Amino acid sequence: MDFDKIVERHDTDAVKTDSLKKNFGRSDLIPLWVADMDFESPRCIREALQEVVDSGLYGYNVIPEDYFPVIKKWLGEEQGWTVEEQWLSFIPGVVKGIGYILNFFTGKGDGIIVQPPVYPPFMNVPAGNDRKIVFNPLIRLSDSDSRPYAMDFEHLKKIASEENCRALILSNPHNPGGIAWDRETLTELADICYKYNILVIADEIHADMPLFGGRHIPFASVSRQAEKISITLGAPSKTFNMAGIVSSYAVVPEKELREPFYRWLAVNELNSPTIMATRGAMAAYTKGNEWRREMLAYIEKNILFVEEFCKRHFTRFTEASHKSGPDGNIEAEPGNTPTGIKGGNSIQLIKPLRPQASFIVWLDCRELGRVLWENKRTASWSPEASQQLITDLFINKARLALNDGSTFGPGGAGYMRLNVGTPKQVLEEALRRLAYSVNSEEQGPENRH
Ligand SMILES: Cc1ncc(COP(=O)(O)O)c(C=O)c1O
Repeated sequence: MDFDKIVERHDTDAVKTDSLKKNFGRSDLIPLWVADMDFESPRCIREALQEVVDSGLYGYNVIPEDYFPVIKKWLGEEQGWTVEEQWLSFIPGVVKGIGYILNFFTGKGDGIIVQPPVYPPFMNVPAGNDRKIVFNPLIRLSDSDSRPYAMDFEHLKKIASEENCRALILSNPHNPGGIAWDRETLTELADICYKYNILVIADEIHADMPLFGGRHIPFASVSRQAEKISITLGAPSKTFNMAGIVSSYAVVPEKELREPFYRWLAVNELNSPTIMATRGAMAAYTKGNEWRREMLAYIEKNILFVEEFCKRHFTRFTEASHKSGPDGNIEAEPGNTPTGIKGGNSIQLIKPLRPQASFIVWLDCRELGRVLWENKRTASWSPEASQQLITDLFINKARLALNDGSTFGPGGAGYMRLNVGTPKQVLEEALRRLAYSVNSEEQGPENRH
């Protein structure tokens, strides 16, 4: 397993490389955005798919008898979650699954709760289906806390009782930020949603990538209430880098939810996998674990490298520092400037928040945004104006394609999402470019290239 190997993805129809121009306006960027990895999938998956290709037989296929037992075994052994085979169904993609669930269980105008900053389709899918998005923004904790965000349960109770909320979409672990929600948080979430009759769609696509000795806790496993109100969506696609194969599944323990929903999936043939999906998933779950462990160890090293680099290259010692507002955003004075000058301090222009799971790192770039804005002062200060300057620096100066934080909804402006599922050499080059561009910007217009 050579995770250092540079794999050329251009002209392979990969979204990450082949839609750079469409999404960023230029194609000369190092792609560190879309959440798939630049590693070749494990050999066991390639062999399983090769066997199908070589057979020359691509007619209609059944679901192999072993398929659901293999998923059940994986969930039991890797996530400590005992499920019954009948709770499982194939589903052709997690985002599609969210769409099916919303269409089946909720109506137009119903409130759907999402907790931003969060994976953009959590907002696009309800909005595009004429549901009302009801935000329960995460609370940004301080750097001294053990994790960067917490759920706002007081606000959740308020919206649950006031708005016509029918469902909540949970990202567990949370994208962005890689937060592995703890048992206490998930239990409280389940209690509230149970009380207000809110269906929880638990997107657990990042579940099998716990980092630094952590463990994933499936939402439905925390209590009987959680089990009764939830539909969990999982997949081997992120973990084994096979998103293009599309091999997701749903887990619905509660019969009253499961039977009608699974009947509807079946009559519409939405529960029919392609032969590549079943063969690929089974190979991943039965033979891919060693690859997964090595991949996670590689990702951990990449994360530590990013942290170290950012500390070394983006820390600034100042006589005066800028204080953050209560929501973690830089406070704007009445004159609309991001200030609040206080005693001497050090700041980090780009601060990676250490993920507890998965290969995406949420970079807190708010201090960088402040410096860029102070240099330019082209518009009155706002998180969005600041985000534009940050994004421009990443794309047009450093030539890097990362996800713009503002696309993750409220609380996302001022952040960038970095994918570290790539060879270290690529990351080194990306961060080197970033440091060079930040330094040039700091030195003023005459030094910019
Ligand atoms: C939280 C989350 N859910 C779902 C997906 C996409 O899943 P799928 O490709 O199965 O639709 C992603 C991909 O980035 C994700 O991060």
